Amino acid sequence: MWLPCGCTSKYVASSFARRTLASYLHVSGRSRCNVAAFMPEAAGLEGVSGRAALRELSVSNSESFWAAVARHRLCWSTPFHTVQDCDLSRGKIKWFEGGKLNVSVNCLDRHVHTCPERVALIWERDERGSEMKYTYGELLEMTCRLGNLLRRHGVKRGDCVTIYMPTCPLAVASMLACARIGAAHNVVFAGFSADALAERIRDAQSSTVITVNQGVRGGKVTELKKTVDTAMQSCPTVKQVFVAMRTDNPVTMTARDIAMEEEMLKEDVVCEPAVMNSEDVLFLLYTSGSTGKPKGLVHTQAGYLLYAALTHRYVFSYHDGDVFGCVADIGWITGHSYVVYGPLANGATTVLFESTPIYPDPGRYWDMVERLKINQFYGAPTAIRLLLKYGDQWVNKYDRSTLKTLGSVGEPINTEAWEWYHRVVGDGRCPVVDTWWQTETGGICIAPRPSDPDAEIVPGMAMRPFFGINPVLMDTEGEVLTSNNTSGALCMAQPWPGMARTIHNNHQRFIDTYFQPYPGYFFTGDGAYRSEEGYYQITGRLDDVINVSGHRIGTAEIEDVVNQCPAVAESAVVGYTHSIKGQGVYAFVVLKKGIDVQEADLSRQLNGMVSEKIAKYASPDFIQFAKRLPKTRSGKIMRRVLRKVVESDLEGLGDLSTLDDPAAVQEIIQDINISA
Ligand code: PRX
Repeated sequence: MWLPCGCTSKYVASSFARRTLASYLHVSGRSRCNVAAFMPEAAGLEGVSGRAALRELSVSNSESFWAAVARHRLCWSTPFHTVQDCDLSRGKIKWFEGGKLNVSVNCLDRHVHTCPERVALIWERDERGSEMKYTYGELLEMTCRLGNLLRRHGVKRGDCVTIYMPTCPLAVASMLACARIGAAHNVVFAGFSADALAERIRDAQSSTVITVNQGVRGGKVTELKKTVDTAMQSCPTVKQVFVAMRTDNPVTMTARDIAMEEEMLKEDVVCEPAVMNSEDVLFLLYTSGSTGKPKGLVHTQAGYLLYAALTHRYVFSYHDGDVFGCVADIGWITGHSYVVYGPLANGATTVLFESTPIYPDPGRYWDMVERLKINQFYGAPTAIRLLLKYGDQWVNKYDRSTLKTLGSVGEPINTEAWEWYHRVVGDGRCPVVDTWWQTETGGICIAPRPSDPDAEIVPGMAMRPFFGINPVLMDTEGEVLTSNNTSGALCMAQPWPGMARTIHNNHQRFIDTYFQPYPGYFFTGDGAYRSEEGYYQITGRLDDVINVSGHRIGTAEIEDVVNQCPAVAESAVVGYTHSIKGQGVYAFVVLKKGIDVQEADLSRQLNGMVSEKIAKYASPDFIQFAKRLPKTRSGKIMRRVLRKVVESDLEGLGDLSTLDDPAAVQEIIQDINISA
């Protein structure tokens, strides 16, 4: 039953799959055109006479578009009967209902069937020059053994497995093994602290955790298993922890712990895939919002996979045989969509980058590009800004002639960094695609490509909506801004298959956050500018979420930790412009009356608390002790004013008439720690 596309099995060669795409589409008329060569998925979309028309149709007749690409790009064991059933006003999103498939079959078995020896993963280990390659056959075997192991230990369809691992082949196999047996995964970034890990395990109600003995990054060893042990003290429902060995150093094993590789060897290499419904949960991924509590966004099987695969193929102009190098960690959505699911669904060779951009020296990325012959490189502006400061010689040392496309993600890329990336890294010949998207969107929504290869790209602009994406800008009254050369709140007027379906255990929060602010639209939380030509540029978050080195963090999460210190009465955290990190963390702290402490000691203590309870990157760069915070008469802290103060934008402080006591602002200005 589970044979891949292209072979004469019941699985794919059903009458459904054999019918031409055109027969599903009520689009008649003109003859086919070069669209089929550009996008074979769309070959049946008759009457489309070019890429622009295809893009137009993907929005005006999105059901036809998505039906065609879903049938072409994914392997189904049972065809879907309904393309979409969505109602944005209620936060109801369902795609491809009636369809059944297995994501691991789509990512592995079908490629093993056609080319088992193709390299699926290149693990660029922290130790330079020690990369390891895994074929699709090997990755399938690893996944099946692990799937069987999880099943033997009672993990069932619908359970949620937490994965706390660095970017490595066993982490990818763990994700795919969950998908194979119908369990959801919850990958927690391995830089998160024990408290942050425990909070995510509890919220996801995981009874199984997968980890490694130790992580290795930038030459430093991190004690991941010990962190899990600490987290376990507040996770009584966890029954088992699978421990893989990244280093040779043994770790203390408790009755709960299982030596993963040892046990995998005892398992069969064939693992029957679970037959999943399109809308069954594939994974949860926690991200920050404007409250102190991270939210577990839920992505489902078919729509997510399809969207990750399609965007991977077309935004980066990925072609068969290319080596795709996305340097994101698998703990973030970029790692999910463009290290794991998108590339593997497309049968690509994908790079797993375990190190840092400057280890052992600032040539690391480009040395890797030369060694692994990377064709598409996808990274974050924060790393580009850092490398730019080290100078061109670290780039020029290495042969980058294999590069075809350069991608940027996670935060705005400033013009200087964009131009350096384009001119120096890409030798002025590779398009730079600045890709805008979010954990919520599942995949890239706005990017310069696909469009004609020669179409203009403006530095620092995400440019054009992807197929099926219909962005709108809203004014403060909630009206759609129809003209160009205008800025507003970025919303989406139509659903697309990759979007998140809910927040785990809290659908109301999902509705309130994304669909309530502009009824009938998905609200992204970002602001954007639309140029005269209709190109989009992201102007930043409109809520209390900041972006530190490409890591998204809610200021309320940091405040929650700071406020737990017994000496602290209250605090307010805001972001400020940082030349490398994009944004830095600035904390204003008011102490309780009568507290007499050395400010330097307390700062150290607060930084330690934030690192311990969240992660190092969330730790404040500046802590300013203030007598009081500027508040409205109703007692609300005016963060807007604090943001302006840390940016030294005193002209832009705006209307202060609602302040309870404007003198509070003057006091803060006098003591400000930085000039941004
Ligand atoms: O503010 C936007 C910013 O990152 C946020 C999403 O963060 P996260 O869910 O962690 O996903 C990051 C990787 C997709 C967005 O709301 N952001 C993302 N990409 C860009 C960006 N800001 C400007 N330009 C981008 N290309």
